[in-house]
Amino acid sequence: MINTKNKPYSESCDQNRHAILTVIRPLLLNSTSVLEIGSGTGQHAVYFSEKLPHLIWNTSDRNENIAGIKLWLSDKNSKKIPQPVELDVRQEIWPIISFDTVFTANTCHIMNQQSVEIMFKRIGELLPEGGQLIIYGPFNYNHQYTSPSNQQFDLWLKSRDPESKIRNFEDLNDMAEAAGMSLINDYEMPANNRILHWKKTKTC
Ligand SMILES: C[S@@+](CC[C@H](N)C(=O)[O-])C[C@H]1O[C@@H](n2cnc3c(N)ncnc32)[C@H](O)[C@@H]1O
Repeated sequence: MINTKNKPYSESCDQNRHAILTVIRPLLLNSTSVLEIGSGTGQHAVYFSEKLPHLIWNTSDRNENIAGIKLWLSDKNSKKIPQPVELDVRQEIWPIISFDTVFTANTCHIMNQQSVEIMFKRIGELLPEGGQLIIYGPFNYNHQYTSPSNQQFDLWLKSRDPESKIRNFEDLNDMAEAAGMSLINDYEMPANNRILHWKKTKTC
């Protein structure tokens, strides 16, 4: 029996999940299977898959977060959330999962530059044409912060890891385009966050 009392907990997941759901629900109407990268605690997966029961929501993360995700999933016992898979975007071979959508929240500013580049490249290779990439988080535009609080957050990120930082939207969009994806929309979200939505439009 798994002790679910010591589940990892992210307060921000509880705070942002409804606003994220409001934006992604219509985007996922025709999707069948999502790969979530950097699922963290697994709270988003549990919430979104409950609200979007037509989807198979595949969680993934680096090894250290897999046990915590399993604890969250064990409370759910839903067939629509398979067991989490270990995925560091830098690994050469990604686990074999069939998906038409990639979702990732609050990961680009944690990953280093190389990881972000690899992530976009691999997503472009693996998404089927018409598939989509949805990224939630804070972003800069033309290398400018969108708020003083994002600037403070960026300073804090860099102090704990010099390779972490808020990424520049234009750089991410260049990576997406190089990987065969086109920007569909850029949604303003609470607390100076955004949701970026790309679709795979061509094979590179
Ligand atoms: C700030 S947490 C966000 C977790 C969750 N998505 C959320 O919104 O609460 C960043 C996540 O990115 C993951 N991450 C960082 N580098 C990664 C990499 N190279 N490959 C895959 N995941 C990575 C971390 O393990 C962590 O779960």
